[in-house]
Amino acid sequence: MIPSLKTLITIPAAALLCAAAAAQTPPALLHTENGRPVRSARQWERQRRPEILRMLSTEVYGVAPDTRAEARYETIEEGIALGGTATRRQVRITLRAAGMERSADMLLYIPVGAEEPVPVIFGLNFNGNHATTSDPAVIVAGKSGSPERAPRGGNARRWPYAEAVARGYAVATICKDDFYPDRRDGYEQSVLPMLYAGSGIPDSVRMKAVGAWSWGISRAIDCLETMPEIDTRRIMVIGHSRLGKTSLWAAATDRRIAVAVSNDSGSTGAALARGKQGETVEKINASFPYWFTDNYKRYNGREEQMPFDQHMLLALVAPRPLYVASASRDDWADPRNEMRAAQMCGAVYSLYGLRPLTWQEDGLPAVNTPFIGGDVAYHLREGGHDIVLYDWERFMDFADKYFR
Ligand code: GCU
Repeated sequence: MIPSLKTLITIPAAALLCAAAAAQTPPALLHTENGRPVRSARQWERQRRPEILRMLSTEVYGVAPDTRAEARYETIEEGIALGGTATRRQVRITLRAAGMERSADMLLYIPVGAEEPVPVIFGLNFNGNHATTSDPAVIVAGKSGSPERAPRGGNARRWPYAEAVARGYAVATICKDDFYPDRRDGYEQSVLPMLYAGSGIPDSVRMKAVGAWSWGISRAIDCLETMPEIDTRRIMVIGHSRLGKTSLWAAATDRRIAVAVSNDSGSTGAALARGKQGETVEKINASFPYWFTDNYKRYNGREEQMPFDQHMLLALVAPRPLYVASASRDDWADPRNEMRAAQMCGAVYSLYGLRPLTWQEDGLPAVNTPFIGGDVAYHLREGGHDIVLYDWERFMDFADKYFR
């Protein structure tokens, strides 16, 4: 309701300031839609969590159809790699539904000589498997697979396979574009036409690229489940930036993911939208209209009216361990709002008797000071928008707490 001129005049300035601050307060995590307080993990699971999941599906990431794509897995290459410390495997995943077919190529490095199945780190990549490593045996494939567009090893810095394998982790990756080419006209080549065929789901709530990528992560996990060397009860899914948004939604929708990592995911990822610096809802929808639902555009410039905010996305990961990482010069993503959401989602972890983020101050912590003592972790790496060895090492330190 808009206050009348008279009430505006009579409201003391302090009260107005208070109202402005209240307007920036994200919607309550622990109140149901009909206003009842949520006091137990059971109530969260049975009532509040499904409400939030539904809301974030219809308003932001998209409603997934029930369609079950038939999957076929074919090992197209296997060999010894990383100086004899790992088996490299390349698997083509072919998915079929509604008479259509799409394929995605997974690259894995699996530590050799492990006595039992190993934990796995899965992450989608930006520019093709061949761009994640200079290993010449990695096939240049996938829809982004042209060496001109993405040179071999061009993103290798972001994929410290040898270090992860040395710590006992298998690492697996697929190019995001295999599930949805990351461009405005990517729809036809994406997995969505085969998934939505005949579904009757209205256009306004359909998944787009980020939904399709998250769905792809679940299909990658299906495939990992067929590999005896991999322990799929110990899966950590990581993602940087747009793929951090994606890893969070994947963890929200697929409970096989045991640990979730968001690196510099920013807008519509880990960062609260209210009071956000850098990229706003309107900006992300303008640059990337094909990432989120059509419904999400209704909130352009209207963050204050959203019945949700990103702390809710993080809360959907509970009770599974969650790591939110930011970088000190990444104003576009907004480290402060990423950290605040990570702090706020702790209320749900507490319901499970788990530990929220141990950094609970107002301002950001010092750079390169990881807070991994709780079940929600956070660090602010010094530097810009990127994912580097420092980040990976902290994520593995955190995963070690649960996987060892
Ligand atoms: C753009 C976009 C961000 C995204 C980033 C990335 O900067 O605005 O939302 O996270 O790309 O994926 O690197």
